[in-house]
Amino acid sequence: MTRIVNLGVLASGSGSNLQSLIDNIEKGALPAAIRVLVSNNPSAFALERAKKHGIPTAVIEHGGFARREDYDRRIVDALNDRGVELVVLAGFMRVLSAYFLRSFPMRVMNIHPALLPSFPGTHGQKKAFDYGVKFSGCTVHFVDEGVDTGPIIIQAVVPVCDTDTEETLSRRILKEEHRIYPEAIKLYAEGKLLVEGRKVRILDHPLPEDSPRHNPPVTDF
Ligand code: GAR
Repeated sequence: MTRIVNLGVLASGSGSNLQSLIDNIEKGALPAAIRVLVSNNPSAFALERAKKHGIPTAVIEHGGFARREDYDRRIVDALNDRGVELVVLAGFMRVLSAYFLRSFPMRVMNIHPALLPSFPGTHGQKKAFDYGVKFSGCTVHFVDEGVDTGPIIIQAVVPVCDTDTEETLSRRILKEEHRIYPEAIKLYAEGKLLVEGRKVRILDHPLPEDSPRHNPPVTDF
């Protein structure tokens, strides 16, 4: 039987990914409960979204801490106080310390707006757009000590069109983010994610279509 997973969501900005988790939980599609929303940014709109849905919030600003670990300790305490099992980074624009990751081993997920390992770090959408790739997308992965280097759980691919701007591409990617993040957390809740070194095996999951996609479409040679 699927259990309810206690989540702690960390967000620095708008929080549209947080919203997609809230919506999926509220409609019964995602067996999880958000125990706390933590932000390093007091003006993050994510805080408003959480409050509107009765989710406890904590603003922990990063200024004034001598070491990254001292700051992370505060967040870890806030998460543990609320009984959080899985930490969900939803546009949290800070790198986590080894201390943090030791506190939640393979229990921190992140969403990145590009097809990792391409275009890690900030502004993944812009980097892919400027590079001229024909496909980009988004990636949910477990967090390790590198920047966007942890084991990949699920990816979605979107085409890049000639008429795109960075903004239209970002919107197309974000729409997929809102689909794959709840899916990844659901798989975790169902106990279907098996981490084997760099690889995440997904138990009892249908195989994807194996038909290749082309952009632009190619002649049927
Ligand atoms: C999302 O596009 C997410 O992939 C990205 O920040 C945005 C947050 O949007 N994260 C990163 O770039 C992390 N390196 P949201 O606040 O509307 O969820």
